[in-house]
Amino acid sequence: MIDGPCQNQNADGTLATTKTERSFFPVTAELLPLTARAGHALTGRVTVPGDKSMSHRALILGALAVGQTRITGLLDGDDVRRTAAVVATLGARVERLDDGTWIVDGVGVGGLREPAEILDFGNSGTGARLMMGLVATHPITAIFSGDASLCRRPMARVTTPLLQFGAGFVGRRGGLLPLAVTGAEHPMPIEYHVPVPSAQVKSAVLLAGLNTPGQTIVGEAVATRDHSERMLRHFGANVAVEILPDGGRRIVLDGQPELKPADLDLPADPSSAAFPMVAALLSEGSDIVLDNIGLNPLRTGLIDTLIEMGGSIEILNPRLCGDEPVGDLRVRSSRLKGITVPAARAASMIDEYPILAVAAAAADGDTIMLGLEELKVKESDRLAAIARGLVACGVTVNVEDNTLTVTGHAGPPPGGGYIKAELDHRIAMAFLVLGTAARQPVAIDDATTIDTSFPGFADLMRGLGAAIEPA
Ligand code: S3P
Repeated sequence: MIDGPCQNQNADGTLATTKTERSFFPVTAELLPLTARAGHALTGRVTVPGDKSMSHRALILGALAVGQTRITGLLDGDDVRRTAAVVATLGARVERLDDGTWIVDGVGVGGLREPAEILDFGNSGTGARLMMGLVATHPITAIFSGDASLCRRPMARVTTPLLQFGAGFVGRRGGLLPLAVTGAEHPMPIEYHVPVPSAQVKSAVLLAGLNTPGQTIVGEAVATRDHSERMLRHFGANVAVEILPDGGRRIVLDGQPELKPADLDLPADPSSAAFPMVAALLSEGSDIVLDNIGLNPLRTGLIDTLIEMGGSIEILNPRLCGDEPVGDLRVRSSRLKGITVPAARAASMIDEYPILAVAAAAADGDTIMLGLEELKVKESDRLAAIARGLVACGVTVNVEDNTLTVTGHAGPPPGGGYIKAELDHRIAMAFLVLGTAARQPVAIDDATTIDTSFPGFADLMRGLGAAIEPA
């Protein structure tokens, strides 16, 4: 049964959006305060939910294929359900079977229909930006909106290249959502060098290139997660990737392919695995296994960093899951030491700094994290939120420009803080993990935001032995 906040289910199980979607009106959702306490070793073997990045892309490319795509392992979280509802609104048929398999009947490249209602992406920057790319080269007009967090996030980074395809935008000052997109009638292919390291911007341009004749070319100075490139190929598009001598990439997509439906089995999300991983490292006597974790080399910066800090993380049974490398991770409690994390690694662990900062708070010595500019434009200003939360938990931090330094306690940090999640799932989870390893409990004001990426987080952590309870 689909019970996401912005879609209903038809009698035949398919998704349908309605004109009276709850999320367009002020809703006083109930907050869910949680408190985490230390004291228990974590043990057991668990599977965290499916990869969020890949889940959005699987639904989107499935919606553009001609025929039926079956997806297993899809993240059943709010962000991804929004994308499912949006592609349904744009004409694809989307169904979730009782066993968790998702079926998408696509409309073909160029086949999106104009939506009669606002597209509400909730908290999801990935959904909004990727879909903006797609709509930009379809001859339709659509209004994009989202929650308070998403309506604060910069969209000019995607509208700038999409204007060059011939799309039009009317939005708030500064290019914020809500934003109306009028797709180009006759899109022109572009060559675009992404000025910030962003897989979302790269992917928006590539998706716009799908319904554009000729070749769309994207350059990136810093390689970012390449799920779009891999998955586009999986669906039959012609995508050439040149790895440049300085580590950057040049990606060339042939426009107007006929995408073929392609079954997908998605791995578990390494960005979600990061939370039980750090909790196990910090709680004495812990020994856990996290199954089937995506190990795309452009996503494994946190694992490399934690190993460098002295963390015991073993990759068991490395293998391929479709087009992506995966493995099971055995994690045992460890004494960590502070290190310097280079700016060059930031793109491969951009979502992992909140939880790395928590690990750093328990490490011996300073951990210096460089190149964090992009953290300021995530679901919250994460650089500020991490610093505020750590200070509230008795940890010394220093923020200078784009560098965060955390002075570790060589063991359990003091804790005792009360943390406002501010619609940021990763801030909520990171500070709950801090509470599982601190001398005093840590409370958060609202855990409902965690459902965007990690439904069942508190239950999974309790199953491993963590003490996370309603406050
Ligand atoms: C994502 C890219 C990253 C990441 C986000 C998911 C993606 O954002 O933070 O959670 O799926 O492409 P940026 O592209 O803004 O770096």
